[in-house]
Amino acid sequence: MSDGASQLVVVGSLNADLTVALDHLPSAGETVIALSPARFGFGGKGGNQAAAAAALGGRVAMVARVGDDEAGAKMRSDLAERGVDTRLVRTTRGLPTGSAQINVDRGGDNTIVVDPGANGALSPEDVRDPVVVSASVVVVQLEIPLDAVAAAVSAANGLVLLNPAPAQTLPDEVLGRIDLLVPNRTELGLLAGSAPPDNLDETAELVGALPHEFDVVVTLGPLGALVVERSGGPRAATHVRAPRVDAIDATGAGDTFCGALAVALGEGWDLIAAARLAVAAASLSVTGHGARSALASRQEAERLAATVEIEPLRLQPRGPRGSG
Ligand code: RIB
Repeated sequence: MSDGASQLVVVGSLNADLTVALDHLPSAGETVIALSPARFGFGGKGGNQAAAAAALGGRVAMVARVGDDEAGAKMRSDLAERGVDTRLVRTTRGLPTGSAQINVDRGGDNTIVVDPGANGALSPEDVRDPVVVSASVVVVQLEIPLDAVAAAVSAANGLVLLNPAPAQTLPDEVLGRIDLLVPNRTELGLLAGSAPPDNLDETAELVGALPHEFDVVVTLGPLGALVVERSGGPRAATHVRAPRVDAIDATGAGDTFCGALAVALGEGWDLIAAARLAVAAASLSVTGHGARSALASRQEAERLAATVEIEPLRLQPRGPRGSG
Protein backbone atom coordinates (compact mmCIF):
# COMPACT_ATOMS: atom_id res chain seq x y z
CA MET A 1 0.00 0.00 0.00
CA SER A 2 1.44 3.32 -0.99
CA ASP A 3 -0.19 5.91 1.22
CA GLY A 4 1.36 4.96 4.57
CA ALA A 5 -0.18 3.35 7.61
CA SER A 6 -3.91 2.90 8.08
CA GLN A 7 -4.94 4.00 11.51
CA LEU A 8 -7.05 0.90 12.13
CA VAL A 9 -6.61 -2.58 10.66
CA VAL A 10 -9.08 -5.41 11.06
CA VAL A 11 -7.67 -8.90 10.53
CA GLY A 12 -10.56 -11.32 10.26
CA SER A 13 -13.42 -13.05 8.53
CA LEU A 14 -15.81 -12.19 5.72
CA ASN A 15 -19.03 -14.21 5.39
CA ALA A 16 -22.11 -14.22 3.23
CA ASP A 17 -24.93 -14.26 5.80
CA LEU A 18 -28.24 -16.00 5.13
CA THR A 19 -30.67 -14.93 7.84
CA VAL A 20 -34.11 -16.34 8.63
CA ALA A 21 -36.58 -14.79 11.06
CA LEU A 22 -38.26 -17.34 13.34
CA ASP A 23 -40.85 -17.31 16.07
CA HIS A 24 -38.36 -19.09 18.30
CA LEU A 25 -34.94 -20.67 17.90
CA PRO A 26 -35.20 -24.42 17.16
CA SER A 27 -34.17 -26.95 19.75
CA ALA A 28 -32.37 -30.18 18.77
CA GLY A 29 -34.51 -32.21 16.37
CA GLU A 30 -37.08 -29.43 15.89
CA THR A 31 -38.10 -27.96 12.50
CA VAL A 32 -39.27 -24.35 12.52
CA ILE A 33 -40.86 -22.51 9.56
CA ALA A 34 -39.44 -19.05 8.80
CA LEU A 35 -41.70 -16.03 9.36
CA SER A 36 -40.51 -14.33 6.16
CA PRO A 37 -38.22 -15.06 3.20
CA ALA A 38 -34.54 -15.57 4.01
CA ARG A 39 -32.38 -12.43 3.65
CA PHE A 40 -28.87 -12.29 2.21
CA GLY A 41 -26.45 -9.89 3.90
CA PHE A 42 -22.77 -9.10 4.18
CA GLY A 43 -21.24 -10.39 7.38
CA GLY A 44 -18.34 -12.08 9.08
CA LYS A 45 -17.14 -10.75 12.39
CA GLY A 46 -14.10 -9.10 10.84
CA GLY A 47 -16.01 -7.46 8.00
CA ASN A 48 -18.72 -6.23 10.37
CA GLN A 49 -16.12 -4.67 12.67
CA ALA A 50 -14.41 -2.94 9.74
CA ALA A 51 -17.75 -1.67 8.36
CA ALA A 52 -18.84 -0.36 11.77
CA ALA A 53 -15.52 1.43 12.28
CA ALA A 54 -15.70 3.02 8.83
CA ALA A 55 -19.30 4.17 9.44
CA LEU A 56 -18.01 6.03 12.50
CA GLY A 57 -15.36 7.82 10.46
CA GLY A 58 -12.41 5.49 11.13
CA ARG A 59 -9.66 5.04 8.55
CA VAL A 60 -9.85 1.28 8.14
CA ALA A 61 -8.07 -1.45 6.20
CA MET A 62 -9.19 -5.09 6.13
CA VAL A 63 -6.95 -8.16 5.94
CA ALA A 64 -9.00 -11.18 4.88
CA ARG A 65 -9.60 -13.87 2.27
CA VAL A 66 -12.63 -14.54 0.09
CA GLY A 67 -13.32 -17.26 -2.48
CA ASP A 68 -13.09 -16.84 -6.25
CA ASP A 69 -16.87 -16.47 -6.51
CA GLU A 70 -19.66 -13.92 -6.79
CA ALA A 71 -20.10 -13.65 -3.03
CA GLY A 72 -16.41 -12.79 -2.61
CA ALA A 73 -16.56 -10.07 -5.27
CA LYS A 74 -19.70 -8.59 -3.71
CA MET A 75 -18.16 -8.74 -0.25
CA ARG A 76 -15.13 -6.80 -1.39
CA SER A 77 -17.16 -4.14 -3.19
CA ASP A 78 -19.56 -3.70 -0.25
CA LEU A 79 -16.63 -2.98 2.06
CA ALA A 80 -15.03 -0.63 -0.46
CA GLU A 81 -18.31 1.29 -0.84
CA ARG A 82 -18.35 1.71 2.92
CA GLY A 83 -14.89 3.28 2.77
CA VAL A 84 -12.82 0.29 3.89
CA ASP A 85 -9.46 -0.25 2.16
CA THR A 86 -9.73 -3.76 0.67
CA ARG A 87 -6.32 -4.06 -0.98
CA LEU A 88 -5.38 -6.78 1.52
CA VAL A 89 -8.56 -8.78 0.92
CA ARG A 90 -7.11 -11.62 -1.15
CA THR A 91 -8.82 -14.28 -3.25
CA THR A 92 -8.37 -18.01 -2.66
CA ARG A 93 -9.03 -20.24 -5.66
CA GLY A 94 -10.84 -23.51 -5.03
CA LEU A 95 -12.61 -22.44 -1.85
CA PRO A 96 -15.96 -20.69 -1.47
CA THR A 97 -16.31 -17.40 0.35
CA GLY A 98 -17.17 -18.00 4.00
CA SER A 99 -20.86 -18.20 4.83
CA ALA A 100 -23.11 -18.12 7.86
CA GLN A 101 -26.58 -19.50 8.51
CA ILE A 102 -28.29 -17.23 11.03
CA ASN A 103 -31.57 -17.79 12.88
CA VAL A 104 -33.15 -14.76 14.57
CA ASP A 105 -36.11 -15.01 16.96
CA ARG A 106 -38.84 -12.43 17.66
CA GLY A 107 -36.76 -10.90 20.47
CA GLY A 108 -33.72 -10.38 18.23
CA ASP A 109 -31.66 -13.21 19.73
CA ASN A 110 -29.84 -15.49 17.33
CA THR A 111 -27.94 -18.69 16.68
CA ILE A 112 -25.19 -18.73 14.03
CA VAL A 113 -23.48 -21.57 12.17
CA VAL A 114 -20.39 -20.60 10.14
CA ASP A 115 -18.78 -22.41 7.21
CA PRO A 116 -15.32 -20.77 7.17
CA GLY A 117 -14.59 -21.35 3.45
CA ALA A 118 -11.76 -19.04 2.36
CA ASN A 119 -11.45 -17.54 5.84
CA GLY A 120 -9.71 -20.80 6.76
CA ALA A 121 -6.96 -20.04 4.23
CA LEU A 122 -5.87 -16.74 5.80
CA SER A 123 -2.20 -17.33 6.57
CA PRO A 124 0.47 -15.79 8.81
CA GLU A 125 2.16 -14.53 5.60
CA ASP A 126 -1.03 -12.66 4.63
CA VAL A 127 -1.02 -10.96 7.98
CA ARG A 128 2.67 -10.02 8.31
CA ASP A 129 2.22 -6.88 6.26
CA PRO A 130 3.58 -3.36 6.87
CA VAL A 131 -0.01 -2.15 7.16
CA VAL A 132 -0.53 -4.36 10.23
CA VAL A 133 2.91 -3.56 11.65
CA SER A 134 2.37 0.21 11.53
CA ALA A 135 -1.35 0.44 12.37
CA SER A 136 -2.24 2.38 15.50
CA VAL A 137 -4.97 -0.17 16.34
CA VAL A 138 -5.21 -3.81 15.19
CA VAL A 139 -8.50 -5.65 15.73
CA VAL A 140 -8.65 -9.47 15.56
CA GLN A 141 -11.32 -12.14 16.16
CA LEU A 142 -11.30 -15.95 15.99
CA GLU A 143 -13.10 -16.89 12.75
CA ILE A 144 -9.68 -17.24 11.09
CA PRO A 145 -6.91 -19.80 11.78
CA LEU A 146 -5.19 -19.38 15.13
CA ASP A 147 -1.75 -19.09 13.49
CA ALA A 148 -2.99 -16.04 11.58
CA VAL A 149 -4.33 -14.56 14.84
CA ALA A 150 -0.97 -15.18 16.51
CA ALA A 151 0.88 -13.61 13.56
CA ALA A 152 -1.35 -10.52 13.69
CA VAL A 153 -0.90 -9.86 17.40
CA SER A 154 2.83 -10.44 17.21
CA ALA A 155 3.34 -8.25 14.11
CA ALA A 156 1.35 -5.35 15.54
CA ASN A 157 3.13 -2.44 17.16
CA GLY A 158 -0.05 -0.52 17.93
CA LEU A 159 -2.85 -1.25 20.37
CA VAL A 160 -4.17 -4.80 19.93
CA LEU A 161 -7.88 -5.45 20.54
CA LEU A 162 -8.90 -9.11 20.55
CA ASN A 163 -12.54 -10.13 20.30
CA PRO A 164 -12.34 -13.85 21.27
CA ALA A 165 -15.33 -14.90 19.16
CA PRO A 166 -16.34 -17.61 18.50
CA ALA A 167 -15.28 -18.78 21.97
CA GLN A 168 -12.14 -20.86 22.18
CA THR A 169 -9.22 -21.20 24.55
CA LEU A 170 -6.12 -19.25 23.58
CA PRO A 171 -2.39 -19.79 24.07
CA ASP A 172 -0.24 -17.43 26.15
CA GLU A 173 1.50 -16.44 22.94
CA VAL A 174 -1.72 -14.62 21.96
CA LEU A 175 -3.06 -13.53 25.35
CA GLY A 176 0.35 -12.20 26.39
CA ARG A 177 0.47 -9.66 23.57
CA ILE A 178 -2.99 -8.11 23.61
CA ASP A 179 -3.87 -4.77 25.19
CA LEU A 180 -7.63 -5.12 25.31
CA LEU A 181 -9.89 -8.19 25.39
CA VAL A 182 -13.54 -7.77 24.39
CA PRO A 183 -15.42 -11.02 25.17
CA ASN A 184 -19.09 -11.67 25.77
CA ARG A 185 -20.05 -13.60 28.90
CA THR A 186 -19.73 -17.02 27.24
CA GLU A 187 -16.29 -16.23 25.86
CA LEU A 188 -15.16 -14.80 29.19
CA GLY A 189 -16.32 -17.96 30.99
CA LEU A 190 -14.41 -20.21 28.62
CA LEU A 191 -11.19 -18.19 28.91
CA ALA A 192 -11.49 -18.08 32.70
CA GLY A 193 -12.21 -21.84 32.88
CA SER A 194 -15.71 -21.36 34.27
CA ALA A 195 -19.40 -21.24 33.40
CA PRO A 196 -20.58 -17.90 31.97
CA PRO A 197 -21.07 -15.37 34.80
CA ASP A 198 -24.64 -14.62 35.94
CA ASN A 199 -24.24 -11.08 37.21
CA LEU A 200 -21.90 -8.09 37.26
CA ASP A 201 -20.00 -9.20 40.38
CA GLU A 202 -19.32 -12.63 38.92
CA THR A 203 -18.30 -11.03 35.64
CA ALA A 204 -15.75 -8.81 37.39
CA GLU A 205 -14.55 -11.78 39.41
CA LEU A 206 -13.97 -13.88 36.29
CA VAL A 207 -12.09 -11.03 34.64
CA GLY A 208 -9.85 -11.05 37.70
CA ALA A 209 -9.14 -14.74 37.06
CA LEU A 210 -7.75 -14.10 33.57
CA PRO A 211 -3.99 -14.29 33.08
CA HIS A 212 -2.02 -11.23 32.01
CA GLU A 213 -2.76 -7.60 32.75
CA PHE A 214 -4.69 -6.47 29.67
CA ASP A 215 -7.81 -4.36 30.07
CA VAL A 216 -11.14 -6.13 29.54
CA VAL A 217 -14.50 -4.90 28.29
CA VAL A 218 -17.21 -7.55 28.62
CA THR A 219 -20.23 -7.08 26.35
CA LEU A 220 -23.51 -7.76 28.15
CA GLY A 221 -26.13 -7.47 25.38
CA PRO A 222 -29.07 -5.30 26.47
CA LEU A 223 -27.32 -4.60 29.79
CA GLY A 224 -24.45 -2.76 28.08
CA ALA A 225 -20.86 -3.53 29.02
CA LEU A 226 -18.56 -3.98 32.00
CA VAL A 227 -15.21 -2.19 31.70
CA VAL A 228 -12.43 -3.60 33.89
CA GLU A 229 -9.22 -1.61 33.77
CA ARG A 230 -6.38 -3.79 34.99
CA SER A 231 -3.28 -2.33 33.37
CA GLY A 232 -1.11 0.05 35.38
CA GLY A 233 -2.69 0.27 38.81
CA PRO A 234 -5.51 -1.00 40.99
CA ARG A 235 -8.44 -2.77 39.34
CA ALA A 236 -11.45 -0.61 38.63
CA ALA A 237 -14.73 -1.82 37.15
CA THR A 238 -17.44 0.32 35.58
CA HIS A 239 -20.86 -0.74 34.32
CA VAL A 240 -21.76 1.11 31.11
CA ARG A 241 -25.53 0.84 30.78
CA ALA A 242 -27.16 0.33 27.37
CA PRO A 243 -30.00 2.68 26.44
CA ARG A 244 -33.39 1.11 25.71
CA VAL A 245 -33.99 0.47 22.01
CA ASP A 246 -36.45 -1.62 19.99
CA ALA A 247 -34.29 -4.62 19.11
CA ILE A 248 -35.02 -6.33 15.79
CA ASP A 249 -31.83 -8.30 15.20
CA ALA A 250 -28.75 -8.47 17.46
CA THR A 251 -26.54 -10.04 14.75
CA GLY A 252 -23.31 -8.06 14.61
CA ALA A 253 -23.98 -5.98 17.74
CA GLY A 254 -20.77 -7.25 19.36
CA ASP A 255 -18.90 -6.53 16.12
CA THR A 256 -20.22 -2.98 16.00
CA PHE A 257 -19.16 -2.59 19.62
CA CYS A 258 -15.58 -3.66 18.79
CA GLY A 259 -15.39 -1.43 15.71
CA ALA A 260 -16.58 1.61 17.67
CA LEU A 261 -14.26 0.91 20.57
CA ALA A 262 -11.31 0.65 18.19
CA VAL A 263 -12.14 3.95 16.47
CA ALA A 264 -12.44 5.83 19.76
CA LEU A 265 -9.28 4.32 21.25
CA GLY A 266 -7.40 5.08 18.03
CA GLU A 267 -8.40 8.71 18.52
CA GLY A 268 -6.99 8.67 22.06
CA TRP A 269 -10.27 8.48 24.00
CA ASP A 270 -10.11 6.94 27.47
CA LEU A 271 -11.56 3.46 27.85
CA ILE A 272 -14.80 4.50 29.60
CA ALA A 273 -15.60 7.17 27.01
CA ALA A 274 -14.79 4.71 24.24
CA ALA A 275 -17.08 2.10 25.85
CA ARG A 276 -19.94 4.61 26.05
CA LEU A 277 -19.61 5.28 22.31
CA ALA A 278 -19.40 1.53 21.65
CA VAL A 279 -22.52 0.78 23.71
CA ALA A 280 -24.40 3.50 21.84
CA ALA A 281 -23.28 2.27 18.40
CA ALA A 282 -24.09 -1.35 19.26
CA SER A 283 -27.53 -0.36 20.59
CA LEU A 284 -28.35 1.43 17.35
CA SER A 285 -27.12 -1.52 15.29
CA VAL A 286 -29.78 -3.89 16.68
CA THR A 287 -32.62 -1.70 15.37
CA GLY A 288 -32.23 -3.05 11.79
CA HIS A 289 -32.07 -6.43 10.09
CA GLY A 290 -28.75 -8.24 9.58
CA ALA A 291 -25.29 -7.26 10.73
CA ARG A 292 -24.81 -4.04 8.78
CA SER A 293 -28.17 -2.47 7.89
CA ALA A 294 -28.31 -0.12 10.90
CA LEU A 295 -24.69 0.87 11.46
CA ALA A 296 -24.54 4.17 13.30
CA SER A 297 -23.02 7.33 11.87
CA ARG A 298 -20.63 9.24 14.10
CA GLN A 299 -23.24 11.90 14.83
CA GLU A 300 -25.95 9.37 15.75
CA ALA A 301 -23.60 7.36 17.97
CA GLU A 302 -22.22 10.40 19.78
CA ARG A 303 -25.71 11.79 20.37
CA LEU A 304 -26.85 8.54 21.97
CA ALA A 305 -23.54 8.05 23.81
CA ALA A 306 -24.13 11.33 25.64
CA THR A 307 -27.16 9.67 27.30
CA VAL A 308 -25.35 6.45 28.25
CA GLU A 309 -25.05 6.13 32.04
CA ILE A 310 -22.08 4.69 33.87
CA GLU A 311 -21.86 3.27 37.34
CA PRO A 312 -18.67 2.27 39.20
CA LEU A 313 -18.84 -1.29 40.50
CA ARG A 314 -17.56 -1.96 43.99
CA LEU A 315 -15.17 -4.89 43.52
CA GLN A 316 -15.32 -7.73 46.01
CA PRO A 317 -12.00 -8.76 47.56
CA ARG A 318 -10.44 -11.61 45.59
CA GLY A 319 -11.24 -15.06 46.97
CA PRO A 320 -12.65 -18.44 45.96
CA ARG A 321 -15.76 -18.15 43.76
CA GLY A 322 -18.95 -18.31 45.75
CA SER A 323 -17.25 -17.49 49.05
CA GLY A 324 -18.98 -14.11 49.11
O1 RIB B 1 -21.04 -11.64 14.67
C1 RIB B 1 -21.97 -11.81 13.64
C2 RIB B 1 -21.34 -12.52 12.50
O2 RIB B 1 -20.99 -13.81 12.93
C3 RIB B 1 -22.25 -12.74 11.31
O3 RIB B 1 -22.20 -11.70 10.39
C4 RIB B 1 -21.78 -14.08 10.77
O4 RIB B 1 -21.19 -14.00 9.51
C5 RIB B 1 -20.80 -14.63 11.80
O5 RIB B 1 -19.51 -14.43 11.41
